[in-house]
Amino acid sequence: GKMAALAQLHLWGATLLLCQFLLIAGEQLHLSRLPFCEEHLRNLPAHTPELRELRDLFQTWTMHKRIELDMINLLGRLREPPTKIEEIYAWKTTWNESYVSSRRRASADALDQIERNITSLVKSLRSKGHIPPSTTVQDLVQCTSGHLQPRLFPDQPVVSFMLQYFKRPKVVDAFVSMLQVCNQLIPSEFLVNVDSPQEGQRWADLSWSTSGFVVPVMSFNLHELRGYNRLAGMARGKYMVLLQDDDLIEPADCSWLPPLVAQFEAMPELAMVGFNKLQLSHGPGNDLNANNFYDPATNNDMIFAFQVDLAPIAIRRSAFRLVGGLDEGMSDRGECGIWSDWELSIRLWVAGWRVAFMPLMRKTEGDPGQPGGTHKPETGVRCWGRQQGLGSSFYMARWGSGWGGAPGKFLEKLENHVRLANLKLLKGKYTRCPFRKGCVPEGDPPLPAEYGDYKHEAKGMVDA
Ligand SMILES: *[C@@H]1O[C@H](CO)[C@@H](O)[C@H](O)[C@H]1NC(C)=O
Ligand SMILES: *[C@@H]1O[C@H](CO)[C@@H](O)[C@H](O)[C@H]1NC(C)=O
Repeated sequence: GKMAALAQLHLWGATLLLCQFLLIAGEQLHLSRLPFCEEHLRNLPAHTPELRELRDLFQTWTMHKRIELDMINLLGRLREPPTKIEEIYAWKTTWNESYVSSRRRASADALDQIERNITSLVKSLRSKGHIPPSTTVQDLVQCTSGHLQPRLFPDQPVVSFMLQYFKRPKVVDAFVSMLQVCNQLIPSEFLVNVDSPQEGQRWADLSWSTSGFVVPVMSFNLHELRGYNRLAGMARGKYMVLLQDDDLIEPADCSWLPPLVAQFEAMPELAMVGFNKLQLSHGPGNDLNANNFYDPATNNDMIFAFQVDLAPIAIRRSAFRLVGGLDEGMSDRGECGIWSDWELSIRLWVAGWRVAFMPLMRKTEGDPGQPGGTHKPETGVRCWGRQQGLGSSFYMARWGSGWGGAPGKFLEKLENHVRLANLKLLKGKYTRCPFRKGCVPEGDPPLPAEYGDYKHEAKGMVDA
């Protein structure tokens, strides 16, 4: 229910109070409180929401107290400028007095409210007997501050754009100006995996000229799986938008971004949204144009999809981390990641998240006349010949009927699960039902006889 969704939302390193376990490289590590904290908190299990609320209040109190004091000190120096050279350097600023005053005031106002909230929360815990009478506010600060909430740090972007880039200098400026428009609407950062580091100077210059909006990472031809995973490890945004260097986006005014963020916020279990292509199943009858549902809560057009295709794709960062990111076992370094987008889609569903398609944008060619990255002569057959066979075998070993096989019963069940998610949670506006199993919102009807693609004997990794 709601708690589980909350727990998932905050899980990665942020709100461990909620869960009392830590995921390290996929392993669960159970942590116990210090014995003297246990004395104070024994009536409050680690997942108690009040503890998380208190931790957030203590964390933001400390931050605002720091800002308030620094601005008070700075105001003093603006009014009476120092004369010693070290002092001049120490208090040098481009801010004017009215800006510094307003910053001081904003923090003072925030402190007022935070202090009132701490007081009423602690009093209510005391009056209900949830904490012993002898437990002080400082005891609570210390016993709840073992895990901080990075989301509350100042200046956190909401969206991290993540571009996989390889030798396409003509599109660079177009990407930067396109995403700077987005940054005006929703606070963003632009991370770039530069797989051709010989172009490093150009990217370093962009970091300078955009005051750090562009964050280039020099890599030695990693390609997409390792490139996106590396960027996800650095991303600070709640949502990541994965981009390829051959695709620009329309509308250019970035009006697609606010509804996307609103959809993620309204649907905590939504992990991934595709914009390029959607799949409702494998095989014939898979209606690739079935974009005929909407969410009555937001009025956004969207359809839950069995699989979506790169790129662009938007992903909730916490979900991406929790499921392990793209599977780097699918290809060697420097090779492309065909099938990895589908593999990730299925994995997210299996982990309990949802995947959707939203018709919010169109791709436009950033570099007209030049074939896309995986379609260049030097990479075309390498990706679509050599790597595609490996990718599909890999995918089928995990989610299909076995290594090198085809879809099987498991994916048929998942096709039905996605169908039911659409019919139960969204509203349809179709004239012809898009699902191979029909539009009755219950059960698991058999596939019509002409769809034989799931009728494969399971061939397990071993006989055991
Ligand atoms: C002070 O700085 C702010 C923000 O940079 C600016 O908007 C404002 O016009 C400045 N005020 C004065 C009096 O210069
Ligand atoms: C303080 O509590 C009120 C009421 O619950 C809430 O609306 C407000 O956001 C809280 N303020 C802070 C800074 O947590």
